[in-house]
Amino acid sequence: MKYYCLNPIAEAGLLRLPETYEKAEKIEDADAILVRSAQMLDLEFSEKLQAISRAGAGTNNIPSPRCAEKGIVVFNTPGANANGVKELTILALLLASRDVKGGMNWVDSHKDDEDIAKTMEKAKAEFAGNELKGKTIGVIGLGAIGVLVANVAKHLGMKVIGFDPYLSVTHALLLDPSVHVVKNADEVYESSDYITLHVPETAATKGMINAETLGKMKNHAVLLNLARAGLINEADLADALSAGKIRKYVTDVPDHATMGLPNVIAFPHLGASTEESELNCAVMAADEIVDFLENGNITNSVNYPACSLGPASKPARICVFHKNVPNVISALTSILGSSRTNLSDMVSKSAGDFAYAMFDMDSDIDDAIISAIRGIPDVIRVKVIRK
Ligand code: MLT
Repeated sequence: MKYYCLNPIAEAGLLRLPETYEKAEKIEDADAILVRSAQMLDLEFSEKLQAISRAGAGTNNIPSPRCAEKGIVVFNTPGANANGVKELTILALLLASRDVKGGMNWVDSHKDDEDIAKTMEKAKAEFAGNELKGKTIGVIGLGAIGVLVANVAKHLGMKVIGFDPYLSVTHALLLDPSVHVVKNADEVYESSDYITLHVPETAATKGMINAETLGKMKNHAVLLNLARAGLINEADLADALSAGKIRKYVTDVPDHATMGLPNVIAFPHLGASTEESELNCAVMAADEIVDFLENGNITNSVNYPACSLGPASKPARICVFHKNVPNVISALTSILGSSRTNLSDMVSKSAGDFAYAMFDMDSDIDDAIISAIRGIPDVIRVKVIRK
């Protein structure tokens, strides 16, 4: 197997790949690509490519639907960098409530002042702020990161409101029981002093912060965005910031329209830039790729369903990517039946327009049978693992 790294990937992750795996010189020679934030939306992919694994949570730099059409599985690493992003969000929250940035700039500009101990006592009133205790924070998106942020905010003495139409049982169980989960984002907009976004950028969330939703927010609310720039209508936010409707915007994903405004604090996408997060993401991204290439198992994919038959140990495991339409499974089992080989285990899963089926066979399968499977309408790709 050959892999290609589109961004530097932590060594600990690359060490998870079997010794037989080689680094490809050219992207078109790769069976799998490891990526962090490199833009892949305009890339064409070779027939050889089987998987792309993103060492991070968001996958809006990868053309996942186009990959699904070609049977290329796109993986991500949900939760692997959640602690790093949570910690930076808490810093953002503190920087929004205390003018530490203004104060530090003042100290820098007075570094030659021999009397600074006295001067600063006069100057500090300019940098006074507010405490977080007792304020309300609305957390939009209660996935791996949002849950951690909500729980820490609770410990800081804040009232926490959470909104997530896709809240999973796992994340609900991790959430501090006193977090008030609401059914409508408007409840968050209307009653929060601070609003923090922890959702992916999708068709449904793109531009979700716009003139209408900003208008629903409390006057002088603070907005934190350590998720994606695309969640924001930049021009509308710039207007709200200039009008003072939004008191402060702290972001890890800066955009052109709001940069330079006095009430904006921006970091250069540092959320997951910690040694620990980079290591966790790289290890998870590599493990997902190896389990897929070696066993056909899919975990944490954004364009194919989770599906596993455990380690491949039978003479042949046949993995079939297909459209999620009627009669594909019956066509598959009928062709496999004609091979007179015993089918010892199978699993079939679907997600949206796509589906994936795995068959463990007690003896090897003829290439003619595999060709017949490839010929079934709506079959996208067939992967055979022989032991
Ligand atoms: C993510 O998608 O996981 C975050 O934006 C962090 C990152 O990619 O560096």
